[in-house]
Amino acid sequence: MTGEARVRAVDLIAGKRDGGEIPGDQLRDFVLAYAREELPDYQMAAFLMAGYLRGFTRSETEALTEAMVASGDQLDLGRLSGPTVDKHSTGGVADGTTLVVGPLAAALGMQVIKLSGRGLGHTGGTLDKLESIPGFRVGLGADELLDQVERIGLAVAAQTADLVPADKSIYALRDVTATVGNVSLIASSVMSKKLAGGAASILLDVKTGSGAFMHETAEAVELARICVDLGQAAGRGTAALVTDMDQPLGELIGNAVEVREAVEALRGDRPGRFLDLCLTLTGHMAALAGTAADPESGRRDAQRALEAGDGLERFREFVAAQGGDPRVADDLSILPQAPHTLEVEAPQDGWLAAVDAEAVGRVAAALGAGRQRKDDDIDPAVAVELSAKLGDQVGAGQPIGRILARDEDAARAAADGLLATLGWSDQPVEAPPLVHQVVGA
Ligand code: URA
Repeated sequence: MTGEARVRAVDLIAGKRDGGEIPGDQLRDFVLAYAREELPDYQMAAFLMAGYLRGFTRSETEALTEAMVASGDQLDLGRLSGPTVDKHSTGGVADGTTLVVGPLAAALGMQVIKLSGRGLGHTGGTLDKLESIPGFRVGLGADELLDQVERIGLAVAAQTADLVPADKSIYALRDVTATVGNVSLIASSVMSKKLAGGAASILLDVKTGSGAFMHETAEAVELARICVDLGQAAGRGTAALVTDMDQPLGELIGNAVEVREAVEALRGDRPGRFLDLCLTLTGHMAALAGTAADPESGRRDAQRALEAGDGLERFREFVAAQGGDPRVADDLSILPQAPHTLEVEAPQDGWLAAVDAEAVGRVAAALGAGRQRKDDDIDPAVAVELSAKLGDQVGAGQPIGRILARDEDAARAAADGLLATLGWSDQPVEAPPLVHQVVGA
């Protein structure tokens, strides 16, 4: 916004402050000027707060997203031969679906490139989980990434700094100016990265509930709708599932343990909500990619691939391709193990009625499984296991989970922390649905 800029930054901020709609070309200049470091943080911060309070129209959200995509490199998947698909979760606890969905989708003929960030706060990151496999590398260059996807249908790598740099700096500013929780800003942040990732089809898993960004389902549906519209406006086949995060999705919360859960799911040894959602997501990806007529037949294909062992075989190939030890698919003891295990027992008779999933994530993070600051190291072996699910009936003293920790004190503190996240009822409680709504299929 220097020299020949059409509008002064201060006038654009005033326009947003007063509830006006900012023209797309002005928003684009503003975002790109910020990405080039020609605009100070305080002006972007003022704009974000004005937008947070006033809201953004759909065309403003589209312009913001386009500008963020244009701020950096975009992956060109043109040389790949198959249907390219990306899947993204807005972030949950025990939400390692990529480790199961990626191999299953690849086994069904899709080409999946997933660029991920690291976990921060109460939700674990896919990269951190994968790095618990001895030797696994997440730093792949663009050519290596594309070669691998052409060969085996799946690659998961760290997002480079050149992809959507505007999002990186704007997100950091939102984090410290209390402007993260705006659906348009979240949608443009998520979708700019997906669009720059280049896949022809995008499936979003928008979480709702106590462990999600969006605690209310209506808000999650609105976020899903905006993301789907942004994807479709950019010419990508896009759909979203709004799914439950009122409790951790899987039973294991940590890093190596989430690899364990994924391998057991791919072996067919771990039925439950986690595997159920993985099959549903794969079915929707298949429908978007055109390898199945609809999500239901895509899910049946995924189930067959699982039962035939094709998903597990693809997982083995994927781990080997990224330098990891593929024996992990057959021998889980090669994963890092925590030295101390403590059983957690139900404190009373009754039905599990409430789980503060975000707090469960924080208990795991405090053990060392997550990071409070972005440069913190994580401990791949420590974990929380919560095997009881909402609606389960338990008796006092019955095992409902375990803590895997470095020492006894940490384990005891985590066990107390886990029990504090749970609410009990003396009446039967209904389990929440796994999928609340499908948007834009
Ligand atoms: N995830 C993102 O990538 N961006 C947001 O704004 C929120 C969640």
